[in-house]
Amino acid sequence: MKFLVINGVNLGRTGTRERGIYGSETLEEINAELEKFVRAHGHEVDFFQSDVEGELCRKIGEAGGYDGVVLNAGAYTHYSIALRDAVAGIPTPVVEVHMSNVHAREEFRHVSVLTPVCRGEILGFGKKSYQLALESFWL
Ligand code: DQA
Repeated sequence: MKFLVINGVNLGRTGTRERGIYGSETLEEINAELEKFVRAHGHEVDFFQSDVEGELCRKIGEAGGYDGVVLNAGAYTHYSIALRDAVAGIPTPVVEVHMSNVHAREEFRHVSVLTPVCRGEILGFGKKSYQLALESFWL
């Protein structure tokens, strides 16, 4: 199977921003580890990151050829109807991911406009959230 991991706004600065919340590993390091994990299970994975809402929508719209998408949309999660519609518009299952436990944080993070159109949601396990989300496609 082939998967796509999409990271949204500000996630390209993982490793330097708010380390107490998101850890000190860079997104490149997290992705390299994920790639090994996915390959070890006989699958393939591509990665995409953008801070730009429209680019994320376009990438999701083009994800029809993948067996599954793992999406950490960052702050867009909480208000982007455009991203929600992009996810709703593809047949590929999308799993929403957050590194932090958004429900233990500010109230504005408790709402996700994406969850209703995603297959499921994994949050609060740091970088492991991505691994758990990917595993959900083959376990
Ligand atoms: C996040 C949680 C969001 O609320 C936040 O805006 C992020 C990262 C997470 O991975 O925990 O940028 O999606």
